[in-house]
This record gives sequence, C-alpha cells and structure tokens, in this order.
Amino acid sequence: MISPYITSGPVTGADFYGRREIIDEITAGRCRATYVLGTRQIGKSSLLRQTETLVPAIFLDLQWAGGRLDDLARQAHREVRRKRRRYPWLPLDGALSDDLFGLLEAINDPVEEAGERLWLLMDEAEIWVRIARSHPEVLHKLRGTIQNCPALCIVLAASKSLSEANTLTGKEGSPFLSGFALRYLEPLNLHDGAALLRQEQGTVPVAVDEELLASLLALTGGHPLLLQLLGERIYEDGQLRPPTEGDLTGILDQAVKTGIFPQDFAALSEPERAILHSISSGQPSPAEADPTYLHGLVGLGILRHDGDGYAIGNHFFARWLREQADWEARSAVTADSTLTIYNQAEVEPQVQLRRILVARFDMSELRTLCADIAIDYENLPGETKADMARELIAYCVRHRKVSKLVETAKRLRRDIRWEDMAKQLS
Ligand SMILES: Nc1ncnc2c1ncn2[C@@H]1O[C@H](COP(=O)(O)OP(=O)(O)OP(=O)(O)O)[C@@H](O)[C@H]1O
Ligand SMILES: [Mg+2]
Repeated sequence: MISPYITSGPVTGADFYGRREIIDEITAGRCRATYVLGTRQIGKSSLLRQTETLVPAIFLDLQWAGGRLDDLARQAHREVRRKRRRYPWLPLDGALSDDLFGLLEAINDPVEEAGERLWLLMDEAEIWVRIARSHPEVLHKLRGTIQNCPALCIVLAASKSLSEANTLTGKEGSPFLSGFALRYLEPLNLHDGAALLRQEQGTVPVAVDEELLASLLALTGGHPLLLQLLGERIYEDGQLRPPTEGDLTGILDQAVKTGIFPQDFAALSEPERAILHSISSGQPSPAEADPTYLHGLVGLGILRHDGDGYAIGNHFFARWLREQADWEARSAVTADSTLTIYNQAEVEPQVQLRRILVARFDMSELRTLCADIAIDYENLPGETKADMARELIAYCVRHRKVSKLVETAKRLRRDIRWEDMAKQLS
C-alpha cells in the first residue's frame, strides 16, 4: 500500500488536520487585519488555502510575484476573474485599476454594496518588508487599504521577519503591525497530531499503538511536516512501526534540505539564541531571560513546556541545534522587533480567555480582577473593555500570573464554563 502521508506543498480538505480555533477566528471575520505568525513549514500556506475553501477569498502569493507590485496586481486581477464564477458580485475586469491598492479599493465597493465580505489572503507576506525597502510608501498604502476597505478582511501569513515592517513605518505614526490581530500558528496539538498520524480523515485509517503514538508526538512536538515525514518513513502495510536511528537521521537531513531549521534560526534574535543555547546544552533558561521571549518561543513551537521548565520544541530541531547551528551567525530580526511582536501575539487559550472576559465581564468586574491580582488598571493601555481584557491577559502572561487571573475570574463568575486555560497558558 502506498503511504498516505503528504510531505510537500500546502494541504487542504480532508488532508488538512486541526487548526479549528484559528480557522474559526479568521472565517468569523471579526478582525479586519490578522497576521498569522509561524515558523517555516508549520502550515501557513495550508491555513490560507483551507480558509480559501471556506469563505469568499482571493489568494495572493507574494513570493510568486517576486515582490513586484505590478505582478501582484496582475495576480489579484486573475484571482478576481477566477472567483467571479463563484461570487458573481465581484467586480468586472474593466472596473479594476492596474495599481494594486487602487484595485483593492475598486474591489471593496461592489463587495460592500452586495453586503458581502471578501478575505484577502497574502502568503509569504514578509516580502512586504523587501518591497518597502525600495518603495517605503507601500506599507502606508496597505494600511490605508485596510482602513478604507471595510468589506475586506486581510490575513497576512509570514515568519517573524515581517516584524521588521514596524521599524520601517515606526518613525511616522504608529508601527505598521499595531492594527493587526496577531496569532501564532502553533504546532498541532496532541489530539490533531494523533489524528494526522492515524489518518483519521483519510479513506483508510493507519494502525498505530498508543505507546508508539505518544513517542512519535513527543519526537515531532506536533510539527505537521515532521509528523508527515515521520509517518511516511515508518509506514508499512497500513500501520506504523517504531522508527530506527537511520529514520531519524534521514528525517533530519530531509528537513535541513527544505531549509527549515537554518531559516527559523536566522529569525531568532540574540536574546532568544541565548535562551536556546542554554536549554540546548542541558541548562535551564537563563534567569535574566525576559519571560516574553519564552512565551513567544513556545507559541512558535521552538520551545515546549517540560515539567516546570522548557525543552527544545522537537527532537529534530534539538539535534540540529546541537550538531549544526552556527551560534555566531547574525540574526535577521532584532530583539526590539521580536519583543513588540511577542507582546502583541496571542496563543489560542489566550484568545478564548479574552473572548470570555469581553463577552461575560463588565468593566467593574474587570477592575475587581485587576485589583485582586494587584494590578493598577489605570496603568493598562487602551480604553475599551476589549483593550483592557487583552492587556490584562498579556500582562499576566508576562508576569506569570495567569493561574492567579483564571482562579480569581473563576471565583468571581462561577456560572461560566471555564476550560483548563491556566495550565495551557502558564
Ligand atoms: N494542517 C495540516 N495538516 C496536515 N499537514 C499539514 C498541515 N499543515 C502543514 N502540513 C504539512 O506541512 C507541510 C508544509 O505546509 P505548508 O506549505 O502549508 O507550510 P508553510 O508554513 O506555508 O511553509 P513555508 O514556510 O515553506 O511557506 C505540508 O506539505 C504538510 O506536509
Ligand atoms: Mg508557505
């Protein structure tokens, strides 16, 4: 029997596992602009392609357009033409401009008039940074598009290097990404990783015993490509066998060939490397490390919780760090850009907790919460209840007070069904 695992290209439909919360969040369209932040091969393109099957969307691949604005505009034209068969309210070609930003505004109006929404999915969005270096006005124009086009929901999928866009706009007005909802694209959770290995959504499920399954999930840390590569190697006649040392070395070589580890490493700032260096040599994370980095690295799957401490996210990256990493190499992303992004980004349980606080707590209850965990609410930035909830959670994550926050919130509101959020966020 041929292996059912898919090890290249984006996956959609029955081949797409997990990611329910982030897909729900994006397709609900509550955020006008979202930045999905993920490492190499974690499934960014798959997420956008899957979204494209669920909502009216046009998909732009910035890599494919080679960072040229006119090619990007041509791509958008083609997409509108293609999608018009399914969504007849999209504008006709003649109504569209050749300038990308003019074109997006021209798309907005008929979509708005039809009472519809259109998702603009931009893959490899870190290329905006490259474009902005030679055309500094593009980031302002893109922000203008977001502001002027209420019928468009913009989703950027990119690695951490997109954070440099903030420094390119920072001097005049607010940083580019400040208006975006930021979400980590995390590795698959245990449940979805197990479903992938067992091919539960496929036509023929794969047999794998529980003990082996747990060890495969631990080896990969839920990284979807690593799960697929491992599945492919150890698949034999409808079942999975334990991997040999040769299998593990082979997967490391395959992963390195795709460039995933060197590129992820290049996007780590100096303080993050210091943390990884320490953990990689069997030490705890440095005592002076800002917890924001640790939280961000876990969100990206580069680290994972291990008892009371941290471990490298998966066996293969850990091995690459020990055997091949060039610790002296220059970082592509600064510590400042990294901190700004990590302070803004939310993991799934954080999003759930924020939704509960916004929907079910009133302002005075939020103030009580702050008082009970010794935070002066007047020092939290923002004015609305939504700002306050987001900042309160971010503060508690940074200061390791999430358990206290959830405990206090539970005490205040016993009528709410609380999931086990504190554990997932600690
Ligand atoms: N949701 C998923 N379910 C199953 N497999 C997945 C999923 N997401 C990603 N994969 C696996 O990971 C591989 C890479 O996915 P994808 O191309 O979407 O990643 P990416 O983050 O866009 O990569 P790149 O950084 O190269 O752009 C896929 O070929 C597939 O093997
Ligand atoms: Mg991709």
